[in-house]
Amino acid sequence: MDAAEADQGARVMTYSLHGTFVRPIAWQAGLGLTLLANALRNAKSAALDQGFDRFDVRVLIGSENKGACRTYEKAGFKTVGLEGYVQKLEKLVSKGEGSATGTALVMELDQSLTK
Ligand SMILES: CC(C)(COP(=O)(O)OP(=O)(O)OC[C@H]1O[C@@H](n2cnc3c(N)ncnc32)[C@H](O)[C@@H]1OP(=O)(O)O)[C@@H](O)C(=O)NCCC(=O)NCCS
Repeated sequence: MDAAEADQGARVMTYSLHGTFVRPIAWQAGLGLTLLANALRNAKSAALDQGFDRFDVRVLIGSENKGACRTYEKAGFKTVGLEGYVQKLEKLVSKGEGSATGTALVMELDQSLTK
């Protein structure tokens, strides 16, 4: 997870989460949620250490990716919007197909750090 922006004025630490990945053989056994909980704990702790009042985590999920969507919802994320994306996969490019387009859900978790 990247701390992409630290807005001292608003005292909000904003993170971009690039993804959570579990090998298919281990899906739906609780590992995804455990990884996510650890990442969020680290994000919260770093934001608290630096004196922020809130932290905000954003992630983009392919709109067809129901399992990921469910996992992020269970971790407390909410869908706040939609974003178009262009994916340049090596496999597609080598076949001369260039890129694939799709729609991503913008999911966000916004948590207060004040008591
Ligand atoms: C998304 C991903 C990380 C989830 O990992 P996981 O170990 O299967 O997740 P968990 O076992 O902790 O599941 C969390 C919740 O989501 C549900 N869930 C996960 N995958 C699901 C699926 N394919 N269909 C329905 N529900 C699913 C689980 O049942 C669980 O909910 P429950 O407690 O109500 O049963 C995993 O599917 C993955 O690596 N996918 C490929 C990469 C990806 O798409 N990452 C996310 C985009 S960044």
